Amino acid sequence: MILIIYAHPYPQHSHANKRMIEQAEQLEGVEIRSLYHLYPDFNIDIAAEQQALSRADLVVWQHPMQWYSVPPLLKLWLDKVLAHGWAYGHNARALHGKSLLWAVTTGGGVHHFDIGSHPGFEVLAQPLQATALYCGMNWLPPFVTHCTFICDDETLQAQARHYRQRLLDWQEAPRG
Ligand SMILES: Cc1cc2nc3c(=O)[nH]c(=O)nc-3n(C[C@H](O)[C@H](O)[C@H](O)COP(=O)(O)O)c2cc1C
Repeated sequence: MILIIYAHPYPQHSHANKRMIEQAEQLEGVEIRSLYHLYPDFNIDIAAEQQALSRADLVVWQHPMQWYSVPPLLKLWLDKVLAHGWAYGHNARALHGKSLLWAVTTGGGVHHFDIGSHPGFEVLAQPLQATALYCGMNWLPPFVTHCTFICDDETLQAQARHYRQRLLDWQEAPRG
């Protein structure tokens, strides 16, 4: 099962993520949890989130980039749901062996992230990658959509179809 943890603070105004979600929900075996719909008051049901994670083989964190990071409800979700004694810590193996895909959209192009002497976009993935690895998950190559401000609808649709294909490929890949 693929579990998409979707964190868009203004889903009704989305162009890129909305199309990606529309494509993903066409697939069987995909559960989408839209955090801002489920928890408008930021009161996350930790047990429900952990149960959903337990059902998943592939977990996707999908969101628009905000200030070079994740939207606040996704950060809270990480803090609350990936709990000590469950996701990490002595004998905590709830997420071990699951795969993690970071699916992020950005307004800026890839060179928007070349800031001073900083190495560019990949460095922004490091906190999430470290989080996944710390919990024993397999970090997959991220699915990144840049330049959402200037993309026309056709380009966003095509990218959304790539996203669907990426999920389908994962479902169909042989695993030992
Ligand atoms: C509060 C806020 C902060 C943002 N910060 C960034 C940023 O740091 N880098 C960037 O490239 N885009 C940034 N953006 C642009 C969003 O990432 C972009 O609008 C979004 O990925 C488009 O996806 P959507 O059409 O699904 O909303 C920001 C947008 C908002 C509202």
